[in-house]
Amino acid sequence: VVPPPPAEKLLSFSAVPKSLADLVTVPAGYTATVLYALGDPLTATATAFKNDGSDADFENRAGDHHDGMEFFGLSADGKASTSAVERGILAVNHEATTNQQLSSFFIHANGGSNTLPRPAAEIDRETALHGLSMVEVRKTGGKWEYVKDSAFNRRVTCLTECEISGPARGNALLVTKYSKDASKTRGTLNNCGTGKTPWGSFVSGEENWSGYFVRGAADNAARGNDKSVAALNRYGRSQGAASRHGWESGGADDKYARWNNSKLGASVDGSDDYRNEMNGMGYIVEADPYNKAKAVKKRTALGRYAHESAAFGKVVAGQPLAVYMGDDSRNEYIYKFVSTQAWNPGDAALADVLAVGDKYLDSGKLYVAKFGADGSGSWIELSITNPLIAAYTGYKFADQADVLINARLAGDAVGATKMDRPEWCSVNPANGEVYFSLTNNSNRTPTPSGSSALAPDGPNPRAYTDMKGTTAQSGNPNGHILRIKEALAGSTALSFSWDVYLFGAESGADAGKVNLSSLTADQDFSSPDGLAFSPSTGICWIQTDDGAYTDVTNCMMLAALPGQVGDGKKVTLTYPTTGTGTLAVDTFVGKTPTADTLKRFLVGPVDCELTGICETPDGKALFVNIQHPGETTSQANIADPSKYTSQWPSSIGYGAGKRPRSATIVITKNDGGRIGS
Ligand code: FEO
Ligand code: CA
Ligand code: CA
Ligand code: CA
Repeated sequence: VVPPPPAEKLLSFSAVPKSLADLVTVPAGYTATVLYALGDPLTATATAFKNDGSDADFENRAGDHHDGMEFFGLSADGKASTSAVERGILAVNHEATTNQQLSSFFIHANGGSNTLPRPAAEIDRETALHGLSMVEVRKTGGKWEYVKDSAFNRRVTCLTECEISGPARGNALLVTKYSKDASKTRGTLNNCGTGKTPWGSFVSGEENWSGYFVRGAADNAARGNDKSVAALNRYGRSQGAASRHGWESGGADDKYARWNNSKLGASVDGSDDYRNEMNGMGYIVEADPYNKAKAVKKRTALGRYAHESAAFGKVVAGQPLAVYMGDDSRNEYIYKFVSTQAWNPGDAALADVLAVGDKYLDSGKLYVAKFGADGSGSWIELSITNPLIAAYTGYKFADQADVLINARLAGDAVGATKMDRPEWCSVNPANGEVYFSLTNNSNRTPTPSGSSALAPDGPNPRAYTDMKGTTAQSGNPNGHILRIKEALAGSTALSFSWDVYLFGAESGADAGKVNLSSLTADQDFSSPDGLAFSPSTGICWIQTDDGAYTDVTNCMMLAALPGQVGDGKKVTLTYPTTGTGTLAVDTFVGKTPTADTLKRFLVGPVDCELTGICETPDGKALFVNIQHPGETTSQANIADPSKYTSQWPSSIGYGAGKRPRSATIVITKNDGGRIGS
């Protein structure tokens, strides 16, 4: 849907300066209010959050590390509504918890234990804080609040039963002791970006799940060095490596044992242990935000990798649907799923949204992107019938489910383009172009050696060793935003054109080689991550998750009004290589932004990442997540709040205790106008 022309001038607010203050700062004329933070109770009987490490009952509280988020409207009588502007359900990802060692230290009394075995009671809290929440929010007396005792409130944790759906359901790679017919698994994990389907359901990407599992040091030998070793390694894990939290150490109960993926039983198919358990994570999952009786479904047709968001391409009646997705790890790929079924607009009104999801998301083709140096690109199908996949020597695929479960290996087989960490994607409602945040990549170098280092190329062109004018930052520390224009066939196109909409950079950096978008002090940013177009105003909101510019400013959110692919110019970057050699890389830079087309809107508290964004359909309330404020606080200082790097949001009067908390904020304009005007 193309948004109507704005009645007001967008981006007329005054830019927010860069800041290191432990505050959320928004432009004059706007108000940001904390709405829903880690630990907030979600039932009538759940107690207020004390925030001192003594709280329990986390299955009935807001989870941690609020990430992607979508708004689902409710009418006054509590029915699903796409036009409601004063009442709705926020579906929120709870990606992770704050830890430096094993313990999620802000939720345990003394900071918790970092030694194995971990106390079961600590593990139970930590597993409950991951997953999703659905929480009712409403505007009462002009003020937004969440509804503590709403019947819509729901938690899904990384132990809640989920259904496996699509081509991998029933496949041998998903057989476990928990589900011998490979139809179910437990939980959704490390949920990062989100999306909203054209039929009104919530989709969420499972990102860094692989780090939560272990495989014993001798396990590959126990399995006869089968191909699961290659799969394990390709998802960033090696046998014997410690898990993120040591949850596998909690005891004999399956809720702990499942995190150990070693071959422990005698079966040949894995039906008596959890050797296949990791294959149950890594999907786009779909949930019915209005019906907590419906199990979350894992949509395996969209592939298994470190998912961020899922963005639907322009929806056209009678045409298949396209879903765009990124795999956020260094040197990973960009994907597109195209549904077998053509879109029937009548399906948007059906109440059983997961049945509609079965129709569009369980059957289709998965493609991976290959970029050309000349601004062109192509989509390569990841199919067991593709000769490159059938003949691949790096991994022997058994069937199409194996291709989907091991999509990274399939992408390798077809020679997909390795990218600078694809994070969120979103589709410009004005023209259907697809935007991808490429957040950063320390592995880019003009002189690559070793298996992970990569030379710069057109769509990932920056790899200077002096990004900051010194040797302190090398590779692509500031990231960029790539955009794709499909060929005439639209969702089913097999070719596209691309350019780089914006390059993140410090405003003082060399405009000829680093600050290629000529960003000013009101616009400069580093490491774009969250990215979403407003369906109301058409503003492209850009959020950062940065470690390269945090000596100068906390992470931030910017408002942008982009043009289109090809509106800028070609640039050639020249790198010294070995000896007297040089490497020339051509790239395509979007039109230089102005104060009318790109402006900083918000700066967050210390150590946070800005992520997750959604709004009411009138564009007058914008919901944003502040993730992991204070995350670099040392666990050793848990007893001394004065040593926390952030005390937000208790520092501004929200809730008890002084420990920092991830939270959803709501932004409104004091004159009642749309956000970003
Ligand atoms: Fe969860 Fe790639 O950010
Ligand atoms: Ca992200
Ligand atoms: Ca990130
Ligand atoms: Ca994060």
